[in-house]
Amino acid sequence: MDLTTLGISLLVLLISYMLIRSTWDRMHRKQNLPPGPTPLPVIGNLMQIKRGELVKSLMQMAEKYGSVYTLYFGSRPVVVLSGYQTIKEALIDQADNFSGRGQLPTVDRVFQGDGVVLSNGERWKQLRRFTLMTLRNFGMGKRSIEERIQEEAHFLVEELRSQKQSPINPTNILVQAIANVICSVVFGNRFDYEDKSFLELLNMFTETFQKMSSAWGQMHDMIPEIMNHVPGPHQKVDKLLHNLLDFVTERVKMNEETLDPSSPRDYIDCFLIKMKQESKNGVSFFDMKSLVLSVLNLFFAGTETVSTTLRHGLLILVKYPEIQAKLHAEIDRVIGQNRTPNIEDRGKMPYTDAVIHEIQRFSDVIPMNVPHSVIKDTTFRGFTIPKGTDVLPLLCSVLWDPEQFETPNKFNPGHFLDANGCFKKNDAFIPFSIGKRICAGEGLARMELFLFLTNILQNFSVTSQRKFTDTEMNPKMTGFANVPVSYEVSFVPR
Ligand code: HEM
Repeated sequence: MDLTTLGISLLVLLISYMLIRSTWDRMHRKQNLPPGPTPLPVIGNLMQIKRGELVKSLMQMAEKYGSVYTLYFGSRPVVVLSGYQTIKEALIDQADNFSGRGQLPTVDRVFQGDGVVLSNGERWKQLRRFTLMTLRNFGMGKRSIEERIQEEAHFLVEELRSQKQSPINPTNILVQAIANVICSVVFGNRFDYEDKSFLELLNMFTETFQKMSSAWGQMHDMIPEIMNHVPGPHQKVDKLLHNLLDFVTERVKMNEETLDPSSPRDYIDCFLIKMKQESKNGVSFFDMKSLVLSVLNLFFAGTETVSTTLRHGLLILVKYPEIQAKLHAEIDRVIGQNRTPNIEDRGKMPYTDAVIHEIQRFSDVIPMNVPHSVIKDTTFRGFTIPKGTDVLPLLCSVLWDPEQFETPNKFNPGHFLDANGCFKKNDAFIPFSIGKRICAGEGLARMELFLFLTNILQNFSVTSQRKFTDTEMNPKMTGFANVPVSYEVSFVPR
């Protein structure tokens, strides 16, 4: 190497060092943010995240930097929280400060901070209050949500019976059944499993999820400044979301044409009535855009989550036939074969309740939670988190925490049973998160899990020729959700 080359190399090294140093200072030190790995300009900590292993990388960093640390997605700082105590101190003890919704760049261009899941401030408060009331049956007319789930569970059982015990991958049928519950709640009707427009709708959802969860989608969420300009499959998400919005807008028009304000049939009717009431106020958050986006939010929030949990559940029942046998016995004792399960049965079925809790704990379907943000400058454990900073409270760090659960890596209904076989609560059971942003569909989701599982097991034994290893049982991270391995099972009538 001659002297000129050496000089240039040293100069490049020096400039790089100064760039890193100045970015680090600008991004981190002067702000008293929690410490974390040193970010690089433009890409932040992207290099420290192993491809396809986002959650694992985040957990490994927690071991190194502690339960509160700062990570950079591009130039954007994100404070990562792990462990029950830390997450509780943030989301419960400082609930208001941590109640903001953080960024989700793959979808933010379309949602623009509207709709119940992604909004903030007064808009979010009002949309959330309205959604909670409606999902609790207030103002939803004569048919309760429980009845709507029971109706769908009946169709699901008949569909499974029609398979005549041949091995099937249950993914599609579960998605159809669970999506139909949301359809019944928001549109007032379910769809036939063969209905073309329903299948089209579900295909659009599936494709949107796939694009969002792909490596491209994840990179988009981490470094949107760059990925917004890079061609790739993630760019199709906007188009898909607009198609979905068109579908929902059509349905809203149909509701408008047939609306009877004295007899609302579904979420859309209730929203339209609220829009009319609020139109007298100067400022209202209940407008057509919020309605359409909130409906889409409910589909996104309520379909994959429940159907994926059930998919994990069926795999677990096949892996542990002795647990399945105990569930059969409890169902036979409390419900029998001559009537449909109802939600009051749950209180009399501690073993079933414990198994469902353990399925949710073990399957850990939303391991990183949905991003939060702080709504004002916040002092937390001696650090200062500036207003608007994104926060990731890692639910996986609590659900699989060895200090909270005796055998965190092993499926064990005993985590939720006391010595007398009664149901035992555990505060670290937080698959729906905690605090002011806690899942608005928790009640609906828990009802669905209980009624679908008991209906299936009242009618069938779930079996498979294949033996699943312990490693195969572990949830696999795809994008933001943990999914089970792909599998086939038979539904054998009892
Ligand atoms: C097993 C099923 C489900 C799981 C594990 C789950 C989990 C979650 C989680 C982790 C969040 C984010 C909480 C946070 O930001 O701290 C959330 C938010 C939300 N979920 Fe669920 N969810 C499920 C089912 C449902 C269902 C069936 C619905 C209703 C249709 C629903 C509606 C919502 C809504 C509206 C939000 C946004 C709440 C807000 O931002 O205020 N979820 N859910």
